[in-house]
Amino acid sequence: MSSNSERIERLERMRLEAQQGGGPVRIERQHAWGKLTARERLDLLLDPGSFVELDAFVTHRATEFGLDRQHFFGDGVVTGHGTIDGRLVFVFSQDFTVFGGSLSEAYAEKICKIMDLAMKVGAPVIGLNDSGGARIQEGVASLGGYAEIFLRNVLASGVIPQISVIMGPCAGGAVYSPAMTDFTVMVEGTSYMFVTGPNVVKAVTHEEVDSEALGGASVHTGRSGVAHLAAKDEAEALEQVKTLLSHLPQNNLADVPVVMTHDPVDRMDPELDGVVPDDPLRPYDMHDVLRRVVDDGDFFEIQPQWAGNIIIGFARIGGRSVGIVAQQPAVLAGALDIDASVKGARFVRTCDAFNVPLVTFVDVPGFLPGVAQEHGGIIKHGAKLLYAYCEATVPKVTVITRKAYGGAYDVMSSKHIRGDLNFAWPTAEIAVMGAEGAVNIIFKDAITAAEDPAAERKRLVSEYEAEFSNPYIAAARGYIDEVILPRETRPRLVRALEILADKRDTNPRKKHGNIPL
Ligand code: HXC
Repeated sequence: MSSNSERIERLERMRLEAQQGGGPVRIERQHAWGKLTARERLDLLLDPGSFVELDAFVTHRATEFGLDRQHFFGDGVVTGHGTIDGRLVFVFSQDFTVFGGSLSEAYAEKICKIMDLAMKVGAPVIGLNDSGGARIQEGVASLGGYAEIFLRNVLASGVIPQISVIMGPCAGGAVYSPAMTDFTVMVEGTSYMFVTGPNVVKAVTHEEVDSEALGGASVHTGRSGVAHLAAKDEAEALEQVKTLLSHLPQNNLADVPVVMTHDPVDRMDPELDGVVPDDPLRPYDMHDVLRRVVDDGDFFEIQPQWAGNIIIGFARIGGRSVGIVAQQPAVLAGALDIDASVKGARFVRTCDAFNVPLVTFVDVPGFLPGVAQEHGGIIKHGAKLLYAYCEATVPKVTVITRKAYGGAYDVMSSKHIRGDLNFAWPTAEIAVMGAEGAVNIIFKDAITAAEDPAAERKRLVSEYEAEFSNPYIAAARGYIDEVILPRETRPRLVRALEILADKRDTNPRKKHGNIPL
């Protein structure tokens, strides 16, 4: 029988061993790749000294292929809880130095345990991914482990925030766990995600491509839209996670903490009066508008490299976090295409799930015309954005800065789909379509019959513009609550969010809706 001091020493030794991961050689290799270890990452992510590790002594159970002779405490994933800015979070951090971070049955159980705990107490889960995928030696037990995680990702979806950071390989079916979380952040140069790697791609399609070009950060933040943010290094990626969390509540029943701001709530910005150009065909940068309106000009853009015709992101207005959705007239004239619709829809639903009010800035000429868009399914993809706005019950505030044409007027948080407070600038043009298009259709015969068709078209266009290209017809019907001076936008939004802070709205009871997918 050992003495108490020996028992204490044993625990201390075991703890020390657990800290070593796969050993100094593999740790050095990890560093040489420009990557931190699983534990170093947690140190950067969590408040100092707040991490409490669970299951540090778990080891795998497999005995095949020599695995009975290799055991590492923790089995390749570090799990537990800690705080970020004083708020509780659950974490798992995959340790590439142990079996390449590959997932065993025991490893999956560790992740499931912290996911279950997070669900019970209502706290976010952050997963740091760096893994060779299913542990090959464990076969179906490993696949089953993934499925257990996938199930929890889905059950937790919309209940607690889930954020994934990709900090190394993430391949095969393993990609579907991050894909089902709320946000995915990738590190440039050292992370990649794909369903099948370069070798399989070559064998099947004869395409030659490397990991980076197939599934690196720039691919997934610029082309596929799979990831939400790219970071230049791991430290930046973890900072991005903290910023994301600061705009999210602990769970779907909680509110986002309000942050006091020194930016005056009644600050007017006369520069805004001159943002919209006189020529309706000239673009402007909607970012200028957003920065001038939100607290301290601080706008945290999500998916900035993808579908630039719509801008999404978080900011605070009067200290309250909001999700901003805005057209970008400088890209595709702000038209809604397939990618923009999908991007906007997902963000609207994320905000709605987590009680983040939506502020929508509208300057949209309509859905993007074209064979590629129609054949690509703009009908069903555009419907996603419409569906998302219709079902959202969080406070919805809308500002129409310029165009709100056609179906896109309806979609972009209009009064008719439960927009709570709808503002328009005097530069707003709310109509079925632009003046040129409208005149060509409704005055086709008159223009053809005219002595000088071009002059007649011009006259009719200006007549139509004078009549319809303004916000007052919509305001006369109450579809616009108030036509405001652009400079007044910030104080109006602050007030609107204040009065809507306790808004409660519901949808009919159902198992779930059937969003077009
Ligand atoms: C067991 C693995 C492993 C795995 C890596 N290792 N992947 N062990 N199962 N899946 C081990 C290696 O044997 C090695 O052990 C150590 O991890 C580091 O791996 P290296 O190959 O030396 O590193 P590197 O050259 O950087 O290559 C990393 C890699 C490569 C690209 C991830 O290891 C690789 O291709 N692994 C297999 C990936 C894969 O096909 N996984 C299954 C995907 S399908 P030592 O002891 O030498 O350090 C999948 C299905 C999910 O995951 C199912 C969900 C439904």
